[in-house]
Amino acid sequence: KIDKYEILSDLMRRRGFAWGSFEIYGGARGFYDYGPLGATIKRKIERKIREAFQREGFFELETPDITPEEVFIASGHVEKFVDPLVECTQCHTRYRADHLIEESLDIDVEGLSAEELTKIIKENGIKCPQCGGELGDVWYFNLMFETYIGPYKDKKGYLRPETAQGIFVNFKRLNAFARNKLPFGVFQIGKAYRNEISPRQGMIRLREFTQAEVEIFFNPKETEHPHFDEVKDEVVRLYPIEHQLKNLGMIEVTLEEAVKKGYVMNTFFAYYMAMVKRILLDIGIPEKAIRFRQQLPEERAHYSKDTWDVEIYSERFGWIECVGIAYRGDYDLSRHMKMSGADLTVMIHYDEPKTVKRLKVSLNMKRVGPKLKKDAKRINEKLKEMSEEELRKLVEELEEEGKVSIEGYELEKEDFIIKEVEEKITGEKIVPHVLEPSFGIDRPFYLLLENSLTIDEDGRIYLKIKKDMAPIEVAVLPLVAKEPLTTIAYNVFRTLQKAGFIAVYDEKDTIGRRYARYDEIGTPYCVTIDNQTPEDNTVTIRDRDTREQIRVKIDELPEKLKELIFG
Ligand code: GAP
Repeated sequence: KIDKYEILSDLMRRRGFAWGSFEIYGGARGFYDYGPLGATIKRKIERKIREAFQREGFFELETPDITPEEVFIASGHVEKFVDPLVECTQCHTRYRADHLIEESLDIDVEGLSAEELTKIIKENGIKCPQCGGELGDVWYFNLMFETYIGPYKDKKGYLRPETAQGIFVNFKRLNAFARNKLPFGVFQIGKAYRNEISPRQGMIRLREFTQAEVEIFFNPKETEHPHFDEVKDEVVRLYPIEHQLKNLGMIEVTLEEAVKKGYVMNTFFAYYMAMVKRILLDIGIPEKAIRFRQQLPEERAHYSKDTWDVEIYSERFGWIECVGIAYRGDYDLSRHMKMSGADLTVMIHYDEPKTVKRLKVSLNMKRVGPKLKKDAKRINEKLKEMSEEELRKLVEELEEEGKVSIEGYELEKEDFIIKEVEEKITGEKIVPHVLEPSFGIDRPFYLLLENSLTIDEDGRIYLKIKKDMAPIEVAVLPLVAKEPLTTIAYNVFRTLQKAGFIAVYDEKDTIGRRYARYDEIGTPYCVTIDNQTPEDNTVTIRDRDTREQIRVKIDELPEKLKELIFG
């Protein structure tokens, strides 16, 4: 039986797609290098995502990988981005304590303290799966890589575990750039770092990886997406929470139905689900290999109220989460506002001014003036600064208790003048909510290759990658390495390079071998200069998938290839 995974891994290393990093020093788990062909495909994936969001009018941002500690204290990562670990006292193998308990006892231990987890392990006699030895105490391990900023070890920083925070901390500037008008979107493509406990499955769980994250800031009262109509008929494969819990399997519905039936919270969310799906299709992931799975509450990150994972199917690993679409609410902006003191609100202007009733409370100076003297002024100032809610509470207390205590004075209802006045307001300040489609790049990269690897009935192995995603778009081959074919071929190659194609010129080996070489790396077209070329200025274009050839004039070649590759 052919092991497709072995073939693919070998192809990836041998032909320059990707391989484990630091090979000559024995490797380091969780790190991958992209070779010449891999790096080109990776950039093409990033470009498709970038261009899709630019077409939505979103802004791109680039912020540092190294981040001062305050940012991740505010974002909750210092406290919450942790996994519980436990070590065997005999063989010293380390495990995720929660996974071990959940597998042994089939209970959910989400949110329990290290002490509580240790107790469960001891009380239930859970042993080391490797050697049967005793397990030690559980401790929580933070997945962020720590570092220090500057020459003294007093200023702590972290390598960012998500690119998102770089966007949130810039909200004030970005909002000004968007001219204070919601909704608007900002994206960032860059590295993220997580000290994963057990990196595995090749490129699926890395310690350094690339994300393309989009933060869409919106008014939570306006959740109808203005362009939902464009995507409402898109059929998606959903695996909602309820279906997972009851083993009901997946459903196929249009996005319109998905919102109507309450599977997806609103059209705003659904619009971006459609967008993510379209991007994955555009990258070349087959439709049948894409599904949306709603995260179970215990899987959700600390900031999320609802998350749908977009998963891609792998023959080897099963369904793999490649994009997370999270509803982050106002969690991040509110936390950064509190921690930094910056005003991260947006002024929402009403279409028409609204009349609201406001409480006005001040001291009845005739009654309390002589008693309070200078303090009266201060108390009046304080009353002026109180919010509507605080004033209502104060009045309520006066009604119920007959008195309140302010600044050490006992004051009665008659000591105040309480009025309700009408006021016209033109808007209000809100903390925007956030919807976040977060793409990993490395996982779709691997899954694109895996889904593209094709073995024909005659045993031909080739990469049937979407044509515009191919790392080499066209190979120019003289039939034999002889003049005048070589010179003509070289000139054709230069013409194609200048026309913007990623092209190669290759005269080594038989033509059959060369075709096989370019099929293997997914080159969609080989252009062959044969004995007829010097006579009539025509060349053949050979199709990777069908192996069929057509003959075209050299003059028409760039246009023809553009049409064939980019559509
Ligand atoms: N800001 C949200 C966030 O970071 P996430 O689900 O943790 O959400 C988003 O990550 C995407 O990043 C994932 O869907 C996955 O594609 C990628 N990713 C996360 N951890 C990864 C890892 N250890 N190795 C490779 N890719 C990873």
